[in-house]
Amino acid sequence: MNFVLATNASTMQADTLLLPLSQDKRLDDIAQSVDQLMGGVISRAIASGDLSGEFKRHHLFLNDTPQGPRRILVIGTGEPGKLTARKYRLLLQTSWNLIKHHRINNVHNCLTQAQSVHLGDTARIRLTIETLTHASYTFRQYKSQPEPEYGATVTMQLSSTSQDAQQHLELGFATAQAMDLCRNLSNLPGNICTPSYLAEQAQKLAKESTKVKTEVLDETAMAQLGMHCLLSVGQGSAEPSQLIVVHYQGSDQAEQPHVLVGKGITFDSGGISLKPGAGMDEMKYDMCGAASVLATMQAVIELALPINVITVIASAENMPSSTACKPGDIVTTMSGQTVEILNTDAEGRLVLCDALTYIAQFNPATVVDVATLTGACIIALGHHTTALLSNDDTFAEHLLAASQQAHDPAWRLPLGDEYQEQLDSNFADMANIGGRTAGTITAACFLARFTQQYTWAHLDIAGTAWSSGKHKGASGRSVPLLVQHLVNQANPTVTASQA
Ligand code: BES
Ligand code: MN
Ligand code: ZN
Repeated sequence: MNFVLATNASTMQADTLLLPLSQDKRLDDIAQSVDQLMGGVISRAIASGDLSGEFKRHHLFLNDTPQGPRRILVIGTGEPGKLTARKYRLLLQTSWNLIKHHRINNVHNCLTQAQSVHLGDTARIRLTIETLTHASYTFRQYKSQPEPEYGATVTMQLSSTSQDAQQHLELGFATAQAMDLCRNLSNLPGNICTPSYLAEQAQKLAKESTKVKTEVLDETAMAQLGMHCLLSVGQGSAEPSQLIVVHYQGSDQAEQPHVLVGKGITFDSGGISLKPGAGMDEMKYDMCGAASVLATMQAVIELALPINVITVIASAENMPSSTACKPGDIVTTMSGQTVEILNTDAEGRLVLCDALTYIAQFNPATVVDVATLTGACIIALGHHTTALLSNDDTFAEHLLAASQQAHDPAWRLPLGDEYQEQLDSNFADMANIGGRTAGTITAACFLARFTQQYTWAHLDIAGTAWSSGKHKGASGRSVPLLVQHLVNQANPTVTASQA
């Protein structure tokens, strides 16, 4: 879908006008003028009760007068001024279904003008772009006879009186495009999206801008650096592991970079600690962290943010075989610390720890790692909220604020020595699992042992990165949060005024 800002002139020239109506049934200026143009048909529908402003209730009017839009789609917004982000999204989802149903190609959207105490002018623009792009997303590249694509051809004018509208349209569009990329990479099957495939995609990004350089470390290079913990995860697979590093220089070289690290397990069978068969296909999504950080990099490039950003992907395939690592094996990490692998299915932390040690050389300003790390996270927070854990209170607050601004919910969980003890090992410096309780926290505690030199946060997106069942598919979640985090780093004053 293409988005542009509406001008006064475009309102009356649109093919279809999308108009909000709240339960107080007051017509705004635009609604009044089309009502007049059409001889009062909207006011009469209100008087007769056909239009009530009830949430999501809608009506399509055809305008047979020679002037103005050809069709008027009025949609109820419920209680005046009370639209929350969630309700606004539901409204947009309904609008998209109607646009598709009526094969509408050109829309002038006035929903962005619906006042709300919960959503500012610019937030509504961004939510509109992100939600409609999300709703119109399809992944049909492996259907031999795909249904015709609808959505790419739709143009939408967004109505806004805000001075910053254009800037937020660009931010919303870059975020939406990045979510598309994230979902496309995530939805790919494991036989296509291998660690080497991810490396190629990262190399493609570098071609888009002279500010970007991609570096890929193969298994030999990683072995030389002592990344034996990362390498142990892929040693049972025919697919070689890869450490993928994308550098974006948007500011002076001396400026400390913001680093994003993604878990890129392109398939997680569990290894010798094999997972049960049911639903195992979904473990192709175990690279959603990698997809999120790569996609965020695309948005950073698109927005030309004036900061330095480094994205690192720790990628491997976790398979059982005679060369796979076994429960009880002890490996040495790049940091020198040793790990007793008690469960080969707790592999995410094993690839991430070496990537987190590797990035210390960049002297990062901040580090965020993103991973589908623990099933326990889904038990704790369900499929709605990302878990956030951090070694720095100020940074945690910063990320929670970004999460709220981006409407990409996250919630902080604690770290602490009492949890660290759960990782005690009889034979190595630590075990890779911490027992049945607090699985998300002990996983983050493991990572915390490798991030002491810098400001760090961990996002567990196990519950939010994809949906199962009939609507199985990647969500693109954590991209909005990460893009907002970096936008705020680039422009701290904007944060203060928007918070
Ligand atoms: N990739 C999984 C976590 C996961 C499971 C994400 C289900 C989304 C849905 C991770 O590698 C894993 O297997 N974690 C284990 C850790 C355990 C062995 C300590 C888990 O959560 O069961
Ligand atoms: Mn696993
Ligand atoms: Zn995993």
